[in-house]
Amino acid sequence: MLVSLFFLTLFFHEALGVSRRFLVHTVLEERKAIPHGWNKRGLSDSSAFDKKSLTLPLRINLRQDNIHRAEKLLLDVSSPKSKNFGKHYTPNEVVDLFAPAEDSVAAVMDWLMDAGFKGIYSKVKGAVIVDLSVADAEDLLHTKYHVYDHDTGRPHVACSSYSVPQAVREHVDFITPTLHFDVALGKRGPTHVVEDGVAKNVDHACLPRGTLPVFAPQPVGNRKNSYGIVEYTPQSYIPSDLDVFAKNFTRDAVGYRPKLDSIDGGVLVSSPPEFSVNSESNLDLQYAIGLTYPLDITLYQVGDPVAQASFNNFLDGIDASYCTYEGGNDLTQDGKYPDPSGYNHPEDCGKFKPTNVISTSYGYNEADLTPFYEIRQCNEYMKLGLMGTTVIYSSGDYGVAGNGGKCINPTTGNYSTGPDGTKFNPSFPGTCPWVTSVGATQINPGSTVHDPEGACEQTIYSGGGFSNVFAIPDYQKEAVGEYFKNHKPTYTSAQYNNSMTTRGYPDISANGANYLVALGGVFYKIFGTSASAPTVGAIISLLNDARIFARKKPIGFLNPYDNCEALNDITSGGNQGCGTPGFTAVPGWDPVTGLGTPSYPRLLAVFLSLP
Ligand SMILES: *[C@@H]1O[C@H](CO)[C@@H](O)[C@H](O)[C@H]1NC(C)=O
Ligand SMILES: *[C@@H]1O[C@H](CO)[C@@H](O)[C@H](O)[C@H]1NC(C)=O
Ligand SMILES: *[C@@H]1O[C@H](CO)[C@@H](O)[C@H](O)[C@H]1NC(C)=O
Repeated sequence: MLVSLFFLTLFFHEALGVSRRFLVHTVLEERKAIPHGWNKRGLSDSSAFDKKSLTLPLRINLRQDNIHRAEKLLLDVSSPKSKNFGKHYTPNEVVDLFAPAEDSVAAVMDWLMDAGFKGIYSKVKGAVIVDLSVADAEDLLHTKYHVYDHDTGRPHVACSSYSVPQAVREHVDFITPTLHFDVALGKRGPTHVVEDGVAKNVDHACLPRGTLPVFAPQPVGNRKNSYGIVEYTPQSYIPSDLDVFAKNFTRDAVGYRPKLDSIDGGVLVSSPPEFSVNSESNLDLQYAIGLTYPLDITLYQVGDPVAQASFNNFLDGIDASYCTYEGGNDLTQDGKYPDPSGYNHPEDCGKFKPTNVISTSYGYNEADLTPFYEIRQCNEYMKLGLMGTTVIYSSGDYGVAGNGGKCINPTTGNYSTGPDGTKFNPSFPGTCPWVTSVGATQINPGSTVHDPEGACEQTIYSGGGFSNVFAIPDYQKEAVGEYFKNHKPTYTSAQYNNSMTTRGYPDISANGANYLVALGGVFYKIFGTSASAPTVGAIISLLNDARIFARKKPIGFLNPYDNCEALNDITSGGNQGCGTPGFTAVPGWDPVTGLGTPSYPRLLAVFLSLP
């Protein structure tokens, strides 16, 4: 049997006469260090897996057509200077625009057929999908898979490098599941920091509502204009706390609940109030509702409490073209659905509509994932922008350091909070050029809301810096160029990519200090870009409300670089981390507070004057 199989394989290759094309492999992706919190299971471990019986849902992501034109196309519909401002694309137009070229599809199908497998091409997904045993996947990609265990107990199957034939290299973006660790976000907890204790002597002027102009038009609450907040189960809000907050600050909103879009079995976890589970969602929703009521709020609650979920599960839920999994597979890097102990259904694909603004206060470090993977996800945010959605992410709470204050050892690539962690650790998706990355400011001690704000230096530091993955987008070149010309930091390439050719973040910022949040019926002070992001999202949603009332289109991708005059420049404070003072806020754009904080009345004037 073995012999004949061997013969058959040989014969197959000879007969086709094409296999030579696929003989020479080239490495597509590799990772040097294992992300923090993961440990490789030993090969001898009895709990290692059976490589012949375990199936991997291999997804070969094809090179998307027209990606090189992405920025031009996006700015054409979102730059205030463009005559096509607001003329967004339909989902089908976006699928057609970026569908892979025919020769890319053919090259990958040929490769698989040559290896004896039949791939399924999906235009909508821009990928070829094939279910293979782990052993077959190892042969195909010249790699070895291992089981990794996270500190939380969650297992994950990955490899540390893989390759594809030279002949298909130019047609493939990347392949999953391979070396990506974008596992569920729910257990990572919110990025903001909570100051324990009941707030006393509350200064109402510090609430962001106090910064809203009294002469702003009342929000109309057009049904077509919903503001989307994304939460990852088990993170979830406590309904009664919305009312506690509303009773004090937005009386009309007492009893109001966000519309629930439950993606992959997303639910509100009902347990006694807990900071680690409820503070993020309570914060996001209390301020989203409080600042925009009576606008419609959509809560994208992603993942069941067991399998949980990642950004990709969310993107799958609102965009069938991105959807990763065809159905039941038990070894993937994202939340795994169906989940027999929770949401026992196939993963939700394109079941929900993207709202006009989507704000997310969760994030990874760039170094957790691979460049190809991040670029692909980032392109998805670009597509949402083309379709008219503003995508907002918090920039992180640890200054130039990554989540948890971790920096990078430049020699090993490992994370470290010690003196060997000298390299800055940028956050993702904040460094994706197609999202609006939001940093944090504060009312400086002893100042009032009428004084200039500074970069947040209480409890948290505004995430900011320069990407190690993404090139600088055109829309930012002038502002970032001015920064380097007039305020070049003294750090070297040992701290950050100082080539002046990579994406700088954040783009803008908003107050991130002293947010009163009701939790378990009591008010706490909360700090973080977790607070500033939904606040900016609320302001954009109000601008959309005014535009839609004037029979105009929503804003879509936010390009604040063309609207600097409508922002308050922040010129003091820094974002320390990695044993350094970090970067410093200066006049103009800076990698601490971006271009500054939004001025609602000035932005309203700008956006109502646009078509
Ligand atoms: C909320 O309202 C109650 C009742 O008016 C008041 O006692 C309390 O101080 C308020 N809390 C805050 C944080 O404003
Ligand atoms: C640091 O990196 C090296 C080389 O990649 C690796 O062998 C080592 O296990 C890592 N150390 C830790 C603590 O992760
Ligand atoms: C900085 O980024 C540029 C552009 O992506 C890249 O060519 C260069 O290798 C990077 N430098 C370092 C030190 O990583």
